[in-house]
Amino acid sequence: MDTDALAISGLNAFYGESHVLHNLSFNLKKGQVLGLLGRNGAGKTTCISAIMGLVKVKAARVELFGQSIAGMSPESISLNGVGLVPQGRRIFPSLTVYENLTVAARRGLSQQGPGWGLEQVYATFPRLSERRRQLAGSLSGGEQQMLAICRALMTNPRLILFDEPSEGLAPQIVAEVATVLKQLRNSGLSIILVEQNIKLALDIADEVVVLNTGYVAHAGDANSLRSNDRLVEQLLGVY
Ligand SMILES: Nc1ncnc2c1ncn2[C@@H]1O[C@H](COP(=O)(O)OP(=O)(O)OP(=O)(O)O)[C@@H](O)[C@H]1O
Ligand SMILES: [Mg+2]
Repeated sequence: MDTDALAISGLNAFYGESHVLHNLSFNLKKGQVLGLLGRNGAGKTTCISAIMGLVKVKAARVELFGQSIAGMSPESISLNGVGLVPQGRRIFPSLTVYENLTVAARRGLSQQGPGWGLEQVYATFPRLSERRRQLAGSLSGGEQQMLAICRALMTNPRLILFDEPSEGLAPQIVAEVATVLKQLRNSGLSIILVEQNIKLALDIADEVVVLNTGYVAHAGDANSLRSNDRLVEQLLGVY
């Protein structure tokens, strides 16, 4: 059987005494997009942080392409091919666009072709190329999001974690981000997409997991939610 890009089971996470994630289990198939949804404070960022090794997990099985990564440092997890586009972008404001990209640059695991480098990200995002000498802190919100995406791509990941990439962006920029996400999916990358923009998530995702107060409230294929407004309303209180 083909190994999954990510297989999580029995994942628990804590902040001090506070038990935030409860026994999460879900899988992401290779080359697919998993939409990780839930209201504010449901535990989405904590889950992303736990996968990345930024938050310690307890009693969990976390396997990346069949290899256990539970308990590894964030650096090792990144070196094993996990890229993160964090909530709030977290680009380096006092470095230029070029510097933000080059500090992240790395060849991927068993990479055949050129993969993602400066040339490829500039070709995909010409606006970043035009602004390559500009300080990242002076970019617009949309440009900063593009930079955060490119910085993750420069590590040539095989799994990429997006934490609310559309947050705070104008509709036209959200559409651009959606186009990029679809291109990345079509290129064979495996993706976890955290979103509050349910329409965007359901447009792109193959599978969805809905968190509620740190528990999995729903898991299934995206079609099951796409065609069921009432369930979306019940799980997420929107539509
Ligand atoms: N560093 C922290 N220390 C203590 N509690 C935290 C910390 N970070 C998050 N929490 C708590 O953990 C819970 C889950 O937070 P998390 O940030 O994972 O939610 P989220 O689903 O990403 O929310 P949002 O949609 O607002 O980004 C919340 O109750 C939050 O208050
Ligand atoms: Mg969050």
